[in-house]
Amino acid sequence: MTYLVTDNCIKCKHTDCVSVCPVDCFYEGENMLVINPDECIDCGVCVPECPVDAIVQDSDLPEPDRSKWIEINTIYSNEWPLIIEQKEALPEADEFDGVPDKYEKYFLPIGEGGNFFDDN
Ligand code: SF4
Ligand code: F3S
Repeated sequence: MTYLVTDNCIKCKHTDCVSVCPVDCFYEGENMLVINPDECIDCGVCVPECPVDAIVQDSDLPEPDRSKWIEINTIYSNEWPLIIEQKEALPEADEFDGVPDKYEKYFLPIGEGGNFFDDN
């Protein structure tokens, strides 16, 4: 099992979650964070920290969402840079809280700092 960052993080990126993770397993994209499922120890302490309820336990998600978000968190946590300190939420965070289908409309596969996929 693991915890996963899901749709409502996109365009919000509050980052309160990173300040409590005991194993520093959050990774930062340009407009959302993801969790590395292989590093997450399933403690659950990040869940109540997220102001927009974007973090869920994988087993609480029905299929096909469960597989979708496991894949997204796994792929991008291996591509994006580690984030260990809380920072300012995105300026549009309040406006985009609860907007449906943010992954389909707004997801960017770009790591914070502008790194696309690379093989280095
Ligand atoms: Fe980190 Fe615990 Fe959240 Fe996993 S459940 S991401 S270990 S705070
Ligand atoms: Fe995203 Fe919530 Fe963390 S909006 S960055 S999962 S606090």
